[in-house]
Amino acid sequence: MATPDLFASPGATPAERMAQLRAQLHQHAHLYYVLDEPSIPDAEYDRLFQELQALEAAHPELASPDSPTARVGGKALDQFASVRHAVPMLSIRTETDTEASGAQNFDTRVRKELGLGEGDPPVEYVAELKFDGLAINLRYEHGVLVQAATRGDGETGEDVTQNIRTIRQIPLRIDAPTLPAARGSLHPEGALRLRPGVAGSVTLAGEDDNPTVPGSLGFPPAFSIPAVLEVRGEVYMRRDDFESLNEKQREKIAKGAKGEKTFVNPRNAAAGAVRQLDPAIAAQRPLSFFAYGVGEVAPPEAGGPDFDTHFQLLLTLKSWGFPVAAQTQTAQGASELIAFHEKMGRERDQLPYDIDGVVYKVNSLALQKKLGFVTREPRWAVAHKYPAQEQMTTVLAIDVQVGRTGKLTPVAKLAPVFVGGVTVTNATLHNEDEARRKDVRIGDTVIVRRAGDVIPEVVSVLLDKRTQDAPQFTMPRTCPVCGSAAVREEGEADYRCTGGLFCGAQRKEAILHYAHRRAVEVEGLGDKLVEQLVDAGVVRTLPDLYKLGLTALAGLERMADKSAQNLLQALEKSKSTTLPRFLFGLGIRHVGEATAKELARHFGKLDAVMDASEAQLLEVSDVGPIVAQSIRTFFDQPHNREVVEQLRACGVHWPEGEPAARAPQPLSGKTFVITGTLPALSRDEAKDRVEAAGGKVAGSVSKKTDYVVAGTEAGSKLTKAQALGVAVIDEAALLAMLAAPAA
Ligand code: IVH
Repeated sequence: MATPDLFASPGATPAERMAQLRAQLHQHAHLYYVLDEPSIPDAEYDRLFQELQALEAAHPELASPDSPTARVGGKALDQFASVRHAVPMLSIRTETDTEASGAQNFDTRVRKELGLGEGDPPVEYVAELKFDGLAINLRYEHGVLVQAATRGDGETGEDVTQNIRTIRQIPLRIDAPTLPAARGSLHPEGALRLRPGVAGSVTLAGEDDNPTVPGSLGFPPAFSIPAVLEVRGEVYMRRDDFESLNEKQREKIAKGAKGEKTFVNPRNAAAGAVRQLDPAIAAQRPLSFFAYGVGEVAPPEAGGPDFDTHFQLLLTLKSWGFPVAAQTQTAQGASELIAFHEKMGRERDQLPYDIDGVVYKVNSLALQKKLGFVTREPRWAVAHKYPAQEQMTTVLAIDVQVGRTGKLTPVAKLAPVFVGGVTVTNATLHNEDEARRKDVRIGDTVIVRRAGDVIPEVVSVLLDKRTQDAPQFTMPRTCPVCGSAAVREEGEADYRCTGGLFCGAQRKEAILHYAHRRAVEVEGLGDKLVEQLVDAGVVRTLPDLYKLGLTALAGLERMADKSAQNLLQALEKSKSTTLPRFLFGLGIRHVGEATAKELARHFGKLDAVMDASEAQLLEVSDVGPIVAQSIRTFFDQPHNREVVEQLRACGVHWPEGEPAARAPQPLSGKTFVITGTLPALSRDEAKDRVEAAGGKVAGSVSKKTDYVVAGTEAGSKLTKAQALGVAVIDEAALLAMLAAPAA
C-alpha cells in the first residue's frame, strides 16, 4: 500500500490528488526519459505511480487516457487502421556524394534557386542528425496525444497509437514550458549563445552553465499549446537497448520459444516494434524518439505559434517536452555545413544510436516557402549520407588466426564488400562462444559492421537466407599454425596454442621473452632486432639464435659490424644462465619469475620439472591446478621439448642442484617492498637477494608488508609505510638480515 505523500495537500479530493500525482509523474518522467536527469529515486517514482494506480482503480470514472499509468494497454489488433495525413509526410532528397562536396552541392542549388549572387551573405541552415529509425507523426489535440501514425506512402499511414504510447520519451500530454531553469533553452544567452570557434552558429545542447529563470526574457516567445499540433520525428532504438533486446530474444530461442527471432539491426528492431499488433509486446521493446519537425499545426489566427525559423520551432518543441538532439545547430553557409558533416562523422561512433547521415534544412520558414517542392521532396532540405557501416555479404570460409601470444581467433573470410569506407574481406568472430552465439557458418549471408577504426565484425546471420546445411563452427583442438594442442582454460574465453617455443605465430614474442633482462638475458636483443631477424627468416626458433654467424648478421639492413659483434657476444654470455631464468625464459603460460624460482628450488633439475606429473607439480608452493596443468601441457608438446634439447645442445647451461630439502631460510615468510635508490644494490639485485633468502618482494605497500627497504628519493611508498606503521629499514639493515642465520 502506498504511504501518504508528505507534500500532498491535506484534504485534497481524490480528483485533485490524482491531478497532482499525474503532474508530478509527468514532470519526473520528462526529467528521467527526455533529459536523462532523474530528480527523485526510482523507488519514489514507483511509490507515486502506485498511489495513482490505486486511486484510479478506486475511482474508474476519473481515469484519463493521458495518465502516466495509461501507457500500455489495449488488446492485440488484427490489423492497423489507416490514417490519412492532414499534411503529407514528405521524404527528403538524399545527397549520395558522401564527401564534403555533397554539402557544397546543396548550398549551390539553394543559392541558385533563391537568386543569390557571390556578394550575398551565406544562407542560414539548421544542421541535424539523420536518425536511422522510422518516421512518426504524433497528433496532439488540446495538448493530448490522440494519434500516432507511420509515414506509409506519405499520404496514408498506419495508426500505431497503442505502441507509440509505450515510448516514455513521448509526452502523452503537453503543457506550457515547465522545464527546470538550468535547461534554459528558452533564454537568449543560454540556447542562443555563440559557440566558440563557429561564427554565428548556435546549438541545442544543454545550457547547464547558464542557469536562467524559465520563461523570463523568453526566446522563442513562450507559445501556448496550439489546439492542433502534429510533431514529426524518428522512432529509433539505442544500440545498448538493441543489444539487450537481442540477448533476451536469444534466451527465449534457447529455451525453445516458437516464433521468436533476433533482429538484424536497431532500425529493423524499431520498425518491428512499432508495427507490432500486440501492444503488450511492443511495450517490452525499448524505443526512443527524436523530434525534427511538425505536420499540421493550428495557424496563428487560431492561436497557433507563429514561427519564423525552423530552429525556433525545434526550440519550442524542446520546451514543450519533446526530445530534440543536442547536436542540432544552425550553420552559416556551405563551410559550416561541411564542418558539421565532418564533426558528426568523427563523433558518429560515440553516439548511443545509429545515424546514417546528417540533414540540412534552410532555417528561414519564409525561404523554405519560397523554395517549395519538386515532386514530393522539398528543395529546402537534403540528407547528406555517411558511408554505410553495415553491409550484407557471404561467408566464404571460417579461418582461425593465431596471435603473437598464442591466442586463437576465428575469422570469417568474406566475399569482398565495401563498408565503412573500405573493402572488407575479413571479419572477426572474436572467440568460440561468440562464433557459436551468432552461429556463423560457411555459405551464410551475414551483416558485417565496420565502425570507425574498429576491426570489422560479423553482427548477425540472416538465417532465412541459409541454404546449405553447413555444420556449426567448432574451434580446432590443435593450433592451425604449428599443430600443438590448443587449450581453453576454465573461466577463459580464448583458446591458446601451447606450442609457444615452436609456433610460427608466436616466434617473435617467444624470442623477446627469452632474451628479456630478467629471463635468460641476451643484451641488445630487443623488439626491432627480433622483428628483423624473424622477418628475414634467419631465426625461426630459439636455438637458431645460437647458430647466428657474422655473415648472416652482416646481411641485415642497418646492422653495423660492431652491433653484430656485440650481439654474438651477448648470445655467448647468455649460454651461462640459471635454471630459474631458463624456466622463466621458456614463456610457459602462468609461469612467472617467482614460480620459475620455486620450480627450480623444488626440483633442482630441468628434467625433473619436464617430467613431473601434475600431482608432483602441485607439491610446489605457488603452484595451483591451472599452473600445474599449463606446465604439463607445455612439456607434453614434442616440439617444445625438442627446442629445449636443442638449446642445451647449443651450449645453454646452468648449475643443476638437488631437489630442495627445504633448508630454513633467513627471510622465509617475510614480505618486502623496495623503494628509492639503494647505495650498493640495484633494485633487481636486492629483489634477487631477498627471494634467494626465501622472502617475497611486493610492488606496493599494504598492511601485509613486513619491511619497506628505503633508499634515497623514496616517495609515496615510504609515506604509506609510515602511515601504516610498517617497519622501514635501510640497505645496511637488509644486508644484515640476509647474513643472519635463519630464525
Ligand atoms: S526531415 C520534409 N529530419 O529520413 C522533410 N528526416 O526521407 C522530412 N530522418 O523518412 C524529413 N532524421 O524518417 C528529417 N533530422 C531529420 C531526420 C529525418 C531522419 C528520416 C525520416 C524520413 C527520411 C528522409
